[in-house]
Amino acid sequence: MQQARDILKQAELLYSSEQVQAALRNVAQQINAKLADKHPLVLSVMGGAVVFSGQLLPLLDFPLDFDYVHVSRYGDARHGGAMQWKVEPRENVRGRVVLLLDDILDEGHTLSVLRERVLELGADKCYSAVFADKQRGRKKPISADFVGMEVPNRFVFGYGMDIEGAWRNLPAIYAVKE
Ligand code: IMP
Ligand code: MG
Repeated sequence: MQQARDILKQAELLYSSEQVQAALRNVAQQINAKLADKHPLVLSVMGGAVVFSGQLLPLLDFPLDFDYVHVSRYGDARHGGAMQWKVEPRENVRGRVVLLLDDILDEGHTLSVLRERVLELGADKCYSAVFADKQRGRKKPISADFVGMEVPNRFVFGYGMDIEGAWRNLPAIYAVKE
């Protein structure tokens, strides 16, 4: 689709793939330091967390279990809409230390709702890691325990984050020109 190529051509590069990889290593170290003896259940939030999860997991040096949930908030729009569950968290979280992985913390609805569900289902503790934390300049209902990098309050894409469904595959992070 030509349109997706045009979007990329007009976008601004925020972080190169080298910067992204450095931030990834950093967040992996933080998680290794904190969760090494917890044998967590890692829950990846599909689809945005697919790249972050796939690259983070091999950098974690302790035993863990892996599962996923699928929720989408944006659909194809650029602004948050209703949360739509496709795969919900399930009973396997009971009694576990859970680590939620998501691509980006924006308003914080997705992770705060997810965290509540996981705790309702009987998880012992729920941590969260996001690759990007959007600087909205307002308090969010949840803050992530582990953050890869901060991004400005703009619509960003790449490294798992989509723009109108496209470009999750980019290794760097871009912002739509305003
Ligand atoms: P929140 O519920 O407002 O925190 O939104 C988080 C979800 O919205 C993330 O899981 C992303 O999938 C999506 N999202 C938020 N901001 C962006 C963005 O700038 N680009 C792409 N996706 C985004
Ligand atoms: Mg998402």
